[in-house]
Amino acid sequence: MQTCRTIEEIRSVVKSLKMAGKKIAFIPTMGALHEGHLSLIREAHQHGDAVLVSIFVNPEQFGPNEDYDTYPREFEQDLEKCRDAGVKAVFAPGPEELYSDKKYLKIDISDLNRHMCGGSRPGFFEGILLVVNKLFNIIEPDVALFGQKDIQQFQIIRRLAEEFNHGTELVMVPISRANDGLALSSRNAYLSSEERKTAPGLYRSLQYIEKQVNGGVDTPSLLINHQKSELEAKGFKIDYLNTFSLKTLQPVKTLESGETYILAGAVWLGKTRLIDNILIEF
Ligand code: PAF
Repeated sequence: MQTCRTIEEIRSVVKSLKMAGKKIAFIPTMGALHEGHLSLIREAHQHGDAVLVSIFVNPEQFGPNEDYDTYPREFEQDLEKCRDAGVKAVFAPGPEELYSDKKYLKIDISDLNRHMCGGSRPGFFEGILLVVNKLFNIIEPDVALFGQKDIQQFQIIRRLAEEFNHGTELVMVPISRANDGLALSSRNAYLSSEERKTAPGLYRSLQYIEKQVNGGVDTPSLLINHQKSELEAKGFKIDYLNTFSLKTLQPVKTLESGETYILAGAVWLGKTRLIDNILIEF
């Protein structure tokens, strides 16, 4: 496995892979790799001949009061996991390799970031698009894989690939969960042992709402409000909990048959922000 620190190095790896006719499957990450990332890597082997992973904690997607400085960094273990998982090359640039001091350009997003995580984290998805656009330009992957946990990210990056003609096929991989249902996330490392026991409550609430909706409830707002109160009683602070259109990412009050919705929530448990979602075909 090659570890590349510079754009020049990874470009030369990509060039020789492409010259050998290899199809490149790419997984952008911020490191602190867990079973969720490993499931992306396993899936990537089904889509390409060479799997490339980037590890870069992207400063542009953190707000001024967010956890950029404390975000878990486990570079050596990450490399080991990638090696064991058959990754061909890791691209791990420093911030100065990707960003010059002055940026004159940025990518604006209309509508798709108004709600869900975009609603509560201004600049978050612009920062993600900035880095993913760069990574796609540097690596020019045939396929790129992302987790369903960040479904709004997936939908916005899908538009990026389409509207900016990246020619990269996007694959969304289902959420990996702990035995008790908690969606795996690098940020779960922040949870105290008490909080860790409470944390699966978010997924249970989503499952409860899903069950009612699958049973025919087409206006779930009362149900959702009830689950919000239940979660608050358990110590969660609600950022959002709602049903959203998969296509437009706007909140939806009345579900219509034949449409696909995201039942999604973001909550705080102490200092940890947890997100989770379930896709519903109504
Ligand atoms: O999902 C992530 O880990 C990040 O948002 C990504 C896609 C690697 C961009 O920094």
